[in-house]
Amino acid sequence: MASQTRRRLWLFAILFLLGAHMTTAQESPLSLRELAAQNDFRIGAAVYTSHLNDPAHAETLSREFNMLTPENEAKFCELQAQPGQFDFRRLDQLVAFAQQHDMEVHGHTLVWHQCLPSWVANGQFSRDEAIGILRDHIYTVVGRYQGRIPIWDVVNEGIADGGSGLRDTPWHAMIGDDYIELAFRFAHEADPNALLFYNDYGAEAMNAKSDAIYAMVSDFVERGVPIHGVGLQAHFTLNTINSGSIARNIQRLGELGLQVQITEMDVRYEGDTTADILSQQADDYREMLQTCLDSDYCTAFIVWGVTDKFSWLRGANLGFFNNPIVEPLLFDDNYQPKPAYHALLDALGQYSD
Ligand code: XIL
Repeated sequence: MASQTRRRLWLFAILFLLGAHMTTAQESPLSLRELAAQNDFRIGAAVYTSHLNDPAHAETLSREFNMLTPENEAKFCELQAQPGQFDFRRLDQLVAFAQQHDMEVHGHTLVWHQCLPSWVANGQFSRDEAIGILRDHIYTVVGRYQGRIPIWDVVNEGIADGGSGLRDTPWHAMIGDDYIELAFRFAHEADPNALLFYNDYGAEAMNAKSDAIYAMVSDFVERGVPIHGVGLQAHFTLNTINSGSIARNIQRLGELGLQVQITEMDVRYEGDTTADILSQQADDYREMLQTCLDSDYCTAFIVWGVTDKFSWLRGANLGFFNNPIVEPLLFDDNYQPKPAYHALLDALGQYSD
């Protein structure tokens, strides 16, 4: 080939590559995780292992998020349905996916009154036997994922609604008031480097329940019970966020030396979806993320699913909520970004400037 032709071909190739690069840059602005990375911030989503088989799901998850929470795979009934027989297959797959895509795993959850197998929930155990079961479960699970699951929701929803003391659960009935602190101590023994969280709902703003959580975790901090953070679930109903009050709650927890993470956000409503609803929903997401970013103590923002079509609020009659057509998340049924997604991009973008 004559050297002139070769030079021309090279020039063509370079121009073509430059052009392709510019088009991609124009068509796809930074993703949520790219913007979050600029602030050293975590943006996460809950996920089922089975949904990784859907290429659009896997692609959206790894493109937009740098943290994931196993939606169910790390709960007691999933991991130890029969005494002493652990099944880690689904959780292992999720953790491997996270590692492959450089995502952090927010472990959820070691101790909860739901997803308890009947051998625990209906077992007739002495206090010491129950403590043994709790210890063994936590040691096995936290120990296995040491270094791969750096954060655990150790206890989920342990405070009664209305804040009137501890929730009445099988663990509480078998062990007594100290089951929560025992769980934190066991988790810390199993992985001294893991960040240990207490997680709950309806306790985002200042109210009786968040007061009860604050009292419990203050006491833990004072007595040296290993705890590093509080998770605010943030399952909201449309247009009910009181960000001033949430900011005060985050602030008081932070002043104890604890981190806060928004752990399970979604925004639900009754009836059909309208443009007004989607716009209010976007405002709600923006307000919650901005409140988190405004605080030095709030270190992650996690949504409870990627696409509306897999939301736990879809099709399920949860007692407190029944709207089978609700669209509570950031991406619609076809993985198209919704106004709420753009609101989060905006909020993250402002902090990156
Ligand atoms: C939900 C899951 O999303 C559902 O798939 C499952 O059937 C029940 O649990 N608060 C929590 C989560 O802490 O673990 C719950 O997840 C939603 C409410």
